[in-house]
Amino acid sequence: NRHRFDASDMKLDDVEHITVLGAGNMGHGIAEVAALAGYDVRMRDIKEEFVQDGYEQIEWSLGKLAEKDRISQEEADEALERVTPLVDLESAVEDADVVIEAVPEKMEIKRDVYEELEEYAPEHTVFTSNTSSLSITDLSEVTERPERFCGMHFFNPPVRMDLVEVISGGHTDDETLDLIEELAESMDKTPVRVRKDSPGFIVNRVLVPLMNEAAWIVEMGDATVAEVDSTTKFDIGLPMGAFELADQVGIDVGYHVLEYMHDQLGDAYEPCPVLVEKVEAEELGKKTGKGFYDYE
Ligand code: CAA
Repeated sequence: NRHRFDASDMKLDDVEHITVLGAGNMGHGIAEVAALAGYDVRMRDIKEEFVQDGYEQIEWSLGKLAEKDRISQEEADEALERVTPLVDLESAVEDADVVIEAVPEKMEIKRDVYEELEEYAPEHTVFTSNTSSLSITDLSEVTERPERFCGMHFFNPPVRMDLVEVISGGHTDDETLDLIEELAESMDKTPVRVRKDSPGFIVNRVLVPLMNEAAWIVEMGDATVAEVDSTTKFDIGLPMGAFELADQVGIDVGYHVLEYMHDQLGDAYEPCPVLVEKVEAEELGKKTGKGFYDYE
């Protein structure tokens, strides 16, 4: 069929325009990474203030990278120029070669986005999702191009984290996986192919239960946040303590991943109540100025 033909036809050299859906923590970080790699990037969110916030975060981050001599000021300026923030979905995707979806970690929200996306995206466009846990197969089945759909999972903060999980859904063809791996490499990332589309894939299957268990230790009164973090950070040797990491990732993101893993994989993944409380209080971590720590 024509989709299969298109997929095997698109090579990395043909990829010029990348559309990132969602300008949140991950969305703006991925847009920044793509712009630094020289792609023309459109970053879309549903409200003007969301895209503006994301754009300002990119500006801040590029400034930091230049300040730390990781890139030159000229590279920072050029990357920023390559990013166009938008609200209108049709203009955001009309030229897209690859779409990277990074909207909230809820199956219903992502499904709605893919349905709308399918209306406007050109036929040749490859769809990827930055989902942290949800089934790539289920998401791909919302679209008319499940063979040109895979996971492209970055880590927070995208501009500093080297790994990208490239996840095959049940219908993904090899050309799509090859293309997205090459795309990740062109962004200076190290792709790891995840063959089995299981909840949380590989990294979050390990990492999110670690953050949950840390929360249970505190919930049960066995240790304090500071004790757990100094142990995980200094003694186990993680780059951040378990709670610092939860604040970095977003407590809501970790919670949504856990909810899904709990539903799909069983009781071992039951979210700790303290995570529910934080989500309800909108104390989500760095992005809201307060989580397990204060950032004001
Ligand atoms: N852009 C630019 N600069 C940034 C930044 C960003 N996005 N985020 C932080 N920085 C800056 C900080 O502001 C800080 O600057 P100042 O010193 O001026 O305050 C500086 O970077 C710190 O960088 P350093 O290299 O000095 O510090 P570091 O060696 O601690 O590295 C880190 C920072 C790379 C974030 C490191 O702490 C780290 O690797 N943390 C672990 C992160 C991690 O595991 N992420 C994965 C989470 S799981 C996930 O994302 C999956 C999911 O689906 C839920």
